[in-house]
Amino acid sequence: MPAIKISDTLYSVGVKHPDLKVFDLLMPLMHGTTYNSFLITGEKNVVIDTVKLKFFGEFIENIKQVIDPSKIDYIVIQHNELDHAGSLLKLLELAPGAKIVISKAAENFLNNSFNSKLDFIKADDTTEIKLGPSQTLKFVSAPFLHWPDTMFTYYAEEKALFTCDAFGAHYCQKKGLYSGDMDRAEFEDDYFKQFKIYFEIIMRVYSTKVVSACEKIKSLPINLLLPSHGPLVNADIARHVKCYIDWSFSAPSAECKKAVIVYSSMYGSTMKMAYHIESLLKLRGVKTFVAEIPFAMSESQMADVIKEIAVSDALLIGSSTICSTVLKPIWDFLFFLATVELKGKTGGVFGSFGWDPQGLKIIELVLSNYKMKLIKDMYKIKFVPSEDKLLPAQEFVDRLVKSMNGEE
Ligand code: FEO
Repeated sequence: MPAIKISDTLYSVGVKHPDLKVFDLLMPLMHGTTYNSFLITGEKNVVIDTVKLKFFGEFIENIKQVIDPSKIDYIVIQHNELDHAGSLLKLLELAPGAKIVISKAAENFLNNSFNSKLDFIKADDTTEIKLGPSQTLKFVSAPFLHWPDTMFTYYAEEKALFTCDAFGAHYCQKKGLYSGDMDRAEFEDDYFKQFKIYFEIIMRVYSTKVVSACEKIKSLPINLLLPSHGPLVNADIARHVKCYIDWSFSAPSAECKKAVIVYSSMYGSTMKMAYHIESLLKLRGVKTFVAEIPFAMSESQMADVIKEIAVSDALLIGSSTICSTVLKPIWDFLFFLATVELKGKTGGVFGSFGWDPQGLKIIELVLSNYKMKLIKDMYKIKFVPSEDKLLPAQEFVDRLVKSMNGEE
């Protein structure tokens, strides 16, 4: 993607990565992604975020289409993750006079990422950088959207808000650069679904921080919302912000407890246990959500389960045991749970086994590392469930409900 003029003093100089299938070894992608970077020109020239190092060649060519890189005065790094900060040192080689602008929280991260002692301008909500008589940069600290060091940058005269990963989507659109370039069907059916999935997987865990950041930007006039991934948002800006707020507030109701049950089952025994537990929970007035974890889980399946776990009181995980371990989908799912706030939620483990239930202990260990409130004794069945073997589920569910109600 070449440099693209957004206004007389603002350019997109980022790159597309349309064939990326998995982001950060975590998130499967259907539509690839983009690493957005921006160049502001004038008396002073500013680059806002860089790109992943492997795309440096294309990135620097984009900048060269507009200015000589040695004329860059400032490089703003809105957070330290390497998909956006990865080309910083290479860019500095060509722009040795550039000052690096970061949030206060970012210094330690950047020094440890690059193992270099760099000089920084540390920006906060009061910082203003005058680029010329009619060009001003302001900054909005937005911690934990989604890293502790995240900040937004506001180009006041253009009413352009650069939002780092917030309001982003892993979406490499087929045509154009802006959300407004898509027809309605692509916008709603493809892009906006990815926008929601991105929120569920990357941002939901920090919902309270999302609300605080949205509160901070609500008084800013915004003509362009410029995230670090996906389309540049020039259409439905208010809707994007409102969705972040609404989704952040979709918390569980206090009256009715909710449990999520996920499982993988080789021959259906663990699946029977999952649905038996579900029916007992329902009898106790607990809302339930049950999901089988498939061998290869899609991004939308993940997002659906994450959304449910985020608003639940309990998470139960079931797996068949094989060779003293759990099934691969459950291994993967346990890793993926790192993206959800589980601390304090009730956790339970169940599954069928042949001669060694050791695999279930792995689930217990991981859930306790995530600081869940584990109920005492897993629920396990040797080989195939029978009416007798299902009876202990009553006690398991009793302990579960007590824990959800804070009674044990
Ligand atoms: Fe897209 Fe947090 O980096």
